[in-house]
Amino acid sequence: MTDIEVVLGDITAEDVDAIVTAANESLLGGGGVDGAIHRAAGPGLARAGGALAPCDPGDAKATPAFALDPPVRHVIHTVGPVWEGGTYGEDDTLASCYRRSLEVADELGASSVAFPAIATGVYGFPPERAARIAVAAIRATPTRVQRVRLVAFDEDARDLLLDALKG
Ligand code: APR
Repeated sequence: MTDIEVVLGDITAEDVDAIVTAANESLLGGGGVDGAIHRAAGPGLARAGGALAPCDPGDAKATPAFALDPPVRHVIHTVGPVWEGGTYGEDDTLASCYRRSLEVADELGASSVAFPAIATGVYGFPPERAARIAVAAIRATPTRVQRVRLVAFDEDARDLLLDALKG
């Protein structure tokens, strides 16, 4: 049974086997959480990501974690949906980000994974809806990952994730 925790903080400080980044299809890095993770991991992350690109929205691809501190060994790059009003399959694409990231984590043998609130920043996905989709998708995905940490970068996001966890 996968334990899901909600925490407030910076995902680059997480002590897990793998951290998930909210990437774009180039996997070369960007702003937001992707920028923070690339800054912490160093230039090798963009080189490794670029070699695996493109990554389709809803898919996930893994690279080493480079300069990120142990025990983080892997970065799982997933590309969220750009919010366009909700009638272009955004919900399914977001759910796929969590599902595919857990599948990739299983391929890596990762037992603990930290997720940011994928797509809720630059990509504009409504955070409350995203929190519900994240929790439902994780709960619905068979996985050997024992510990999932949903990392909120602010208190509002944390509260939305906690509410979604109660649902
Ligand atoms: N730790 C945890 N969460 C963070 C951090 C951090 N250090 N920095 C930002 N966040 C949160 C944001 O507050 C937001 O809730 O990550 C969530 C996702 O926001 P974005 O990083 O903007 O990601 P997204 O909306 O998926 O947009 C992806 O932005 O950075 C570019 O290359 C990226 O093109 C891609 C797009």
